[in-house]
Amino acid sequence: MTIDTIDGKYIEKGLKKEIPVEVFDSISSTSTMLKERIRGGNANASLLVADSQTAGRGRVGRDFWSPSGTGVYFSLSYESDMQTTDDVTTIYAALATAEAIETVFGVNVGIKWVNDVYVGDKKCAGILTERVFDSDGKSWIVLGIGINVYEPRQGFDPSVRDVATSVVGEMRANGRNDIVTETINRFWAYGKVDKNEVMRRYIDRSILTGRRVTVISGETQKEAICNGITASGCLVVTYDDGITEKLNAGEVRLRIH
Ligand code: BTN
Repeated sequence: MTIDTIDGKYIEKGLKKEIPVEVFDSISSTSTMLKERIRGGNANASLLVADSQTAGRGRVGRDFWSPSGTGVYFSLSYESDMQTTDDVTTIYAALATAEAIETVFGVNVGIKWVNDVYVGDKKCAGILTERVFDSDGKSWIVLGIGINVYEPRQGFDPSVRDVATSVVGEMRANGRNDIVTETINRFWAYGKVDKNEVMRRYIDRSILTGRRVTVISGETQKEAICNGITASGCLVVTYDDGITEKLNAGEVRLRIH
């Protein structure tokens, strides 16, 4: 028992809507489990929270390193028509995570388009939005969020050491429980806020604007400068050959040197 044990009852009490919360010490992946339930005829709105994952997944088929006692890994499932695109869901969730981190831990964070939350030039949290269909053809979202809350005692895995960081160094009472409730409550609340206002807050947090970036598309990598993000969430870049492009998906790496 630490001062920050993940506690399902505490989380349930802090949430603004009633939803079943299940906590796991270790799970393959909270998102994979929810997807399996939806496809297997057990679709329900629910929240799974884990202390560690053995097969955490990120965007574009990447692994998401999820060791025990340092981060929090959670997935929310809910029925959703196709009116909100998955990219908009990701944008709302990234903003909710960033604002929640600032509220709970008082640490300034930025957003790297489209789904990463950064402290300085390193990633502390990531979002994975997946759409799944149940056996009746109903559409569901599985929203997965992973936050590196505390510094791992043995340091970050060599595979992510250069790009990953934690939100804080010192453990605090209920820090992980509070970040889960604050993030989910904010995400729900944005559904009632003017979309332009949510986008403005997201755009204001962009760490890429004005920076040099590498745009990756399949095997191709091109150097560019980032001009900003449009009101509909596209990243605008100008390549070194002078051509400007609006990207609505894809991968962009921040160039630090
Ligand atoms: C990314 O950085 O590309 C997205 C990372 C998303 C990680 C979260 S942790 C909870 C949920 N379960 C997973 O396997 N992935 C998401």
